[in-house]
Amino acid sequence: LRDRQPIIAIDGPAGAGKSTVARQVAAQIGLVYLDTGAMYRAVTWLVLQQGIAIDDDCAIAQLASQCKIELTPSEDLQSPVRVWINDTDVTQAIRTIEVTSQVSAIAAQSAVRQALVKQQQSWGKKGGLVAEGRDIGSHVFPDAEIKIFLTASVSERARRRQQDFKKQGQPEVSLEQLERDIAERDWKDSTRKVSPLQKAPDAIEIQTDGLSVSEVAAQIVDYYHQRLSQW
Ligand code: DC
Repeated sequence: LRDRQPIIAIDGPAGAGKSTVARQVAAQIGLVYLDTGAMYRAVTWLVLQQGIAIDDDCAIAQLASQCKIELTPSEDLQSPVRVWINDTDVTQAIRTIEVTSQVSAIAAQSAVRQALVKQQQSWGKKGGLVAEGRDIGSHVFPDAEIKIFLTASVSERARRRQQDFKKQGQPEVSLEQLERDIAERDWKDSTRKVSPLQKAPDAIEIQTDGLSVSEVAAQIVDYYHQRLSQW
């Protein structure tokens, strides 16, 4: 008999479609969706809002260990989770280019990661999660029942980001700029010292170029049901 509900870990680089896929998988199976990137974004927003220097590790460590982050599922499958930090709703504010451009530097700080991973693991104690991020299968939930590593080419990811910005009514950014930003963030996220983005050895890799969100979600749900029958 299992002592907890299953956990599905979905990792991969920025713009590989993790969030939309994870939301669909969670809704189809009836699990809770946990967007860990939103937590790093929320801390980054707070750092910027308080005027703390991005390299002031000490002040940022204190902020990260003391802040209260709340996530609640959005009303519909298309929208991101609702995010609060210290009771301020930052759902929209964490998606700006300013936060996006600084978040890698904050996510690279070990005290920030320790604080947020602890929170994620306590939410995951009973399982029943589709958790999405960079280090979920490799570090946060190494015993996750299912580990997925989603990838897509840089150009495909830039195209998707441009569409997202358009939908959110944000100012238009060129594809070249987005490709540069994505490549830079990939580099920072996968070369940082603490928990770099990496595929867990037991993760299944899905290359998503040319696949729709529903197709990718269906593959994961199928895989989940196959595995479920073996447990
Ligand atoms: O998935 P996203 O773009 O919202 O993630 C924002 C940033 O947070 C990204 O640059 C990498 C970082 N991140 C991380 O380091 N570990 C996670 N588990 C999730 C996100």
